[in-house]
This record gives sequence, structure tokens and C-alpha cells, in this order.
Amino acid sequence: MKVLVVGSGAREHALVWKLSQSPHVTKIYAAPGSDGMGSLAEPVSIKPEAFNDLLAFAKEQKIDLTIVGPEDPLVGGIVDLFTRRNMRIFGPTAKAARLEGSKAYAKDVMSRHGIQTGGHKVYDKCEPALAYLQNCDYPVVIKADGLAAGKGVMICKTQEQAEQAIRETMTDKRFGEAGKRVLIEDFLLGEEVSIHAISDGHTILPLCLAQDHKPVGEGDTGENTGGMGTYSPLPQIDDEMMAVLERDVVVQTIHAMNREGEPYKGVLFTGCMMTKQGPKVLEYNVRFGDPETQSIMMRMQGDLFEVLSATIDGKLDTVEVNWDPRSVVTIVLASGGYPRDYEKGYKIKGLDSDFGPDVQIFHAGTKKVDGDWYTNGGRVMSVVALGSDLKDAREKAYAAVEKIRFDKMIYRKDIGFRGLTS
Ligand code: GLY
Repeated sequence: MKVLVVGSGAREHALVWKLSQSPHVTKIYAAPGSDGMGSLAEPVSIKPEAFNDLLAFAKEQKIDLTIVGPEDPLVGGIVDLFTRRNMRIFGPTAKAARLEGSKAYAKDVMSRHGIQTGGHKVYDKCEPALAYLQNCDYPVVIKADGLAAGKGVMICKTQEQAEQAIRETMTDKRFGEAGKRVLIEDFLLGEEVSIHAISDGHTILPLCLAQDHKPVGEGDTGENTGGMGTYSPLPQIDDEMMAVLERDVVVQTIHAMNREGEPYKGVLFTGCMMTKQGPKVLEYNVRFGDPETQSIMMRMQGDLFEVLSATIDGKLDTVEVNWDPRSVVTIVLASGGYPRDYEKGYKIKGLDSDFGPDVQIFHAGTKKVDGDWYTNGGRVMSVVALGSDLKDAREKAYAAVEKIRFDKMIYRKDIGFRGLTS
């Protein structure tokens, strides 16, 4: 079977790596892919937003299954287009993808179906939003309504910070059109977890839990990023809590979308806060998380191609997936300045080191020129390690990180700290 993976980051590299282990898969293309995917996937120079070109390529090459990494094509309707032209593609329709494409829509769905989430207000204009800030409790969370590459969420401890966030988003258009509308949300206290589940609209397959570290700095300080590292499993979330998460969040949401008349097919990644009152939804994403996927794929024991294919066919009940009981830690190496401005083109050393069988390097912003590796993005790569427990996985991951060097390299040195201190 021929597979097309749309995207070029470390998440897509991890998906390509896992798909390449399937006996069903004979050839993988990645659009645009990356040098880091090496021999696992043939790069195709088509951008993820060029739907018609992707469709033409898939038709010409007789691609059996397409999977999309980033959210923009899903929200923009790539699944609808491929499906209309009888091409098999994994992911939700554009209407269902509004769960991520509009945070206000997601809140409406949650409120219509009794799914627990934080209190919020929605504003289309700057002045009323600023007026609301005069009388609310701090901290508050300011969110751009639309897609902002995981960076449109700002936790503001003071009114001054909140006003600045509103102005940056609505007046300065830091997130472009995504910030035309903003949500001002209650700040929720608790343990944040990322729960992924695959659904064909009827059957739901929860994937292993992961915890992301969104702020750029240690101890969860500094600006929010797309994610600086993950680990899995979470020792602080027991089976009972997991069952509540599945019942009250995942199953409820899939049922809600059926009742909305927009059945959800694909992977649903929900960010949840485990509050004293139970889990509350922070956000929905209609694709695999990055860097959650790097940890999840490392623990997955099962055939990813079979899972994706069965989802498209509405036969998810026929496949089985198990999870490696060991722990995994993913550390993101980024370029100094990220998530704001950063420079590219620094030489990366150490990628030819012997990392051992329990370590994988998934490339994101890298480029190979004349046999040498250079930085080419904000998040440069994910270093992923399996270990007997969280402590062991962490030690192995940081030992691997020690072998890699580039100018302005930054990474968090405390990935997994919540799991170790719980
Ligand atoms: N790690 C967060 C995200 O993928 O949105």
C-alpha cells in the first residue's frame, strides 16, 4: 500500500517512522516531508495547503491512504475534497474540524452537550474586551479564536498583561485573522493532560495519555509554545481518573458531534485540566499533537496503518492496539528566540552519534546541505527515549540531548517533572 503523509515536522516524522513498520505499507511519500525523514519517506515538494496539487499527486501515484499532520488543511476541507474524489484520507471533515478551527464553536458544542469546560466570554471587538478585563479575577486566559500554530493562548496574571494580549491579538494582529475574535477564559488550576482518541464515529480507541510542557521556560515559565516536551504514561493519573476522562470527555464529545450531525472521524486530541471538580476541557485539536505524537508512537504496539484504514472504513472495532508498559520522554530542541523570532542556518553536530536502540530522533526544522545538518526552524527536533520508568527514560533522553549541539540551542531541562514529583 502507498501512503501519503502531509506535513514536515517531528510529528510527521514519528508517523512516518511508525507507518514504515507496517507490513501493509510498501511506499511512503511525505509532502513536503523533510531531509530528516531520510529513506523512510520520499519527499514531494507540495505544500500542505495546496489541496488540489495534493489530490492530483495522490490520484497519479494511486495513493491508498493519506494522513494529514497539521490542522490547517483539515480545517480548510482537505478531507472533504479527497473524499468527494473517492480518495481514502484519514481525518475529520471541515465542519467537524471546527472543533479546533474556532474555539468559540468548540465552546458552543460543549455548552450544548454538557461537557465541562472553563467559563468564558467571546469578543469580536477590542473595546468591550478591554472593558471586561476591568472587573475579572486574575489570572485570565486570552485565546485567539482561530488557528495560531499553538501560540494563540496567553495566560495573563495581571490586567496590564491581559490588555497587552488583547491589543497584540486584536489590534496588532499578531496571529493574523485568527485573532479577529478572542475568548477571555477563566484560568483553571490542576494537572493538564493531553488525551488522544481515534474514532470512526462509532467506535472510540483512546490512545495512551501524554503530558505536554507548553511554556518555553523551566517550571512552566515564559511564553507558550507549540510544546517543548512530553512524557507518557503519567504516574499521577490512575486508571480510575483515566476512565473518568474517557467517559466524561472523549465519549461525550464523540456523541455530541453525532448529535450535532457532524460525526467525528479521525484523531481527536483534547487538552484537559484535571480540576478538583473533575476534568475540564481546555481545547480540542483535530489532529495528532506535536510533540505528544512522538511519545505516543514510541509506545504504540500495533499497526498504525491498520488503525487509520479501519477508521476510514468505519471498522475501528476490528483492530487492537497495546501500549509498551515502559515510559517515554520527548525533549524538543529549539532555536533561541522561539516562539518569537529565531535565526536559522546553524550547523548541527552530533546527529551521527550512537544513541542506542531506545532513542529516536524525529526531525522538525532541520536541513541537510552537502552532508551536514543545519537548523531550519523554531522547533528543530525531538529527542525521544524509552526507559524502564520515567526517571530512566528521562536520563536516557537527556543523555542523548547532550550529544547534540548547535548555536542558540535551547531546551527545557525539567521535562517530566510533574510525573516525578507526584
Ligand atoms: N502540543 C500541543 C499541540 O500539538 O497543539
